[in-house]
Amino acid sequence: MVDSRKAMVIGAGDLGSRVLQGLASGGSGRELRLVGRNAEATLRAANLAALSSLQTGHRNVVSEAVSDLFDVDRTAETISEFQPDVIFLTASLQSWWVISTLPQPAFQRLYRANFGPWLPMHLIPVMYAMRAVRAAGSDAVVVNAAFPDAVHPALAAAGLSPHVGIGNVANNVPGIQSSAADLLGVDVHRIDVRFIAHHYVSHRLSRTGDSGAADMILRLLLDGADVTDRLDLAELLGALPGRYRRTGGRDGQVMTAASALSVLAPLLDNLEAVVHAPGPLGRIGGYPVSLSPSGIKVVLPDGVTEAQADAANRSGQRCDGITEITADGTVRFEPEPAGVLAEELGYHCTQMRLDEAEDCAREIGERFAAYRERVLTDPGYQTRPRLAVTV
Ligand SMILES: NC(=O)c1ccc[n+]([C@@H]2O[C@H](COP(=O)([O-])OP(=O)(O)OC[C@H]3O[C@@H](n4cnc5c(N)ncnc54)[C@H](OP(=O)(O)O)[C@@H]3O)[C@@H](O)[C@H]2O)c1
Repeated sequence: MVDSRKAMVIGAGDLGSRVLQGLASGGSGRELRLVGRNAEATLRAANLAALSSLQTGHRNVVSEAVSDLFDVDRTAETISEFQPDVIFLTASLQSWWVISTLPQPAFQRLYRANFGPWLPMHLIPVMYAMRAVRAAGSDAVVVNAAFPDAVHPALAAAGLSPHVGIGNVANNVPGIQSSAADLLGVDVHRIDVRFIAHHYVSHRLSRTGDSGAADMILRLLLDGADVTDRLDLAELLGALPGRYRRTGGRDGQVMTAASALSVLAPLLDNLEAVVHAPGPLGRIGGYPVSLSPSGIKVVLPDGVTEAQADAANRSGQRCDGITEITADGTVRFEPEPAGVLAEELGYHCTQMRLDEAEDCAREIGERFAAYRERVLTDPGYQTRPRLAVTV
């Protein structure tokens, strides 16, 4: 008999709404609450999930509440009132896809920065949410979608890391599993994947089929036995942008939502599972992770040491534009990607203490809004040469 419990989704945007929908349309007897800052949008998203799950015969209860994460007291009250067992954070000041809504030349220029320099936009809502979780005295398992590979180690210093992330390392696992099954000529369900990789690698793999300058660790198991040596890695991964290419952009967040559900459903229903997740227990990058009622554990493949796994994730972190996250949560950025934001937005930052992150987020937000305005109103802007900028 499954012990059914309560989940709170905080952040009523694209991913939060998709995941709420998935939670409402699976299992039975789940109590779900969506928390957003826009009352009308939050009500509509909660009703959509409630009514469509009712339509398909599911017996889950969905409700909604309004809170702005910057109001820690109100969010803490919202958490105390509902007493969730699992909290899923999906709030962000600027989701990864926002730059893709710019005209192509501007998007291409900003894309060169990779993801690391945008860290404050993901870190700040999570930091505020975690302050509310602590203020509520909640012992919920906290799962976060917003750049967990870097947000969690940065917040760990302040004791504010969520327990585990979702997506990123997980998003290519079904494609890798399918490609391995094809090459071995076996049923896909006989294959297990054990993958250690940073966000940078996950993002790149589905586009190019390789990890570039970053390291990753990948093991393929057939009926539990390691068969990695029987497979040509380049051929295996080539299927990600090839045979198993998938819809990208915001529509492609179906895959992220599925990765989130692979973590949230076992936690919510008190089941055991081995999944892939970024930022487990405050770590850098992504890992295989075991979930069970007794806790969350990182599962290293046989023969792989902690040091090897950590080194692979740190190499991905550097490629993503983050040189280092120190034990006190200070983030040092790689000069070249940071230089892209300096050149394009006029935002200069190569090092950020945790107590500076909110000002950094505010500045990026303001500068990005001005940049958007410029590139939309002055079509020639993108083609004019830039002054050389140092950061
Ligand atoms: N791990 C992965 O594989 C993966 C994949 C995709 C996305 N993501 C990440 O997941 C996060 C969410 O993505 P998304 O596409 O769902 O973004 P989105 O559609 O922009 O949703 C973000 C939501 O956060 C809300 N928000 C912002 N500040 C808030 C505050 N102070 N209080 C309450 N809510 C606040 C926004 O509210 P308003 O609507 O009122 O502005 C918006 O609804 C991003 O960090 C994104 O990069 C991760």
